[in-house]
Amino acid sequence: MKFFIDTANLAQIKEANDLGILDGVTTNPSLMAKEGIKGQEAVMKHYKDICEMVDGDISAEVISTDVDGIIAEGKKLAAIHENIVVKVPMIKDGIKAIKWFTENGIKTNCTLVFSAGQAILAAKAGATYVSPFIGRIDDSGWDGMELIHQLRQIYSVQGFETEILAASIRNPNHIIKCAEAGADVCTCPLDSILGLLKHPLTDIGLAKFLEDAKKFA
Ligand code: G3P
Repeated sequence: MKFFIDTANLAQIKEANDLGILDGVTTNPSLMAKEGIKGQEAVMKHYKDICEMVDGDISAEVISTDVDGIIAEGKKLAAIHENIVVKVPMIKDGIKAIKWFTENGIKTNCTLVFSAGQAILAAKAGATYVSPFIGRIDDSGWDGMELIHQLRQIYSVQGFETEILAASIRNPNHIIKCAEAGADVCTCPLDSILGLLKHPLTDIGLAKFLEDAKKFA
């Protein structure tokens, strides 16, 4: 399973990248706004900075909702760097645009996916990635992980090549469960990635080893 970080914060991207286990980055308009980035030029520069920092796929989301607008915006984003993946919402015009990007060699990430039916349409249009939002499904009282299992089953049976990119990750256990369910990618906040490091027995064991090491130092 590939690890992406789900943020537009350069310091957090650097920290995850320095671990040596980062395969890519996902962003969205909310994450970009959180960084206080203003204006088209600044947005494009920010994506470029991320691309120069991480050697992997970088999702940049369109904000147009009509097919012509999505295609025009996606072409500009894709021109920033060869690793840009155009992130497109799961709407009718989004599917049309994904089909166009597929036929024109531009990678896509179909976002805001909450059902198997939506994921089937994204795969049929040739999306590179599909992003089921498991945390938001959990938040609404349903089981997000069920959807990951269902998509793995459908995509494997049907031979769809679209990669399942589990998004809206809330904690380290989500990452573990995604790995178990066969997600191709998990995009996570930095805290959830770092949370995987933690175990009290590791801390207790290391303290004891370091204490005992003093006996022969
Ligand atoms: O980038 C899409 C997704 O990961 C958003 O997550 O935490 O806003 O539900 P969240």
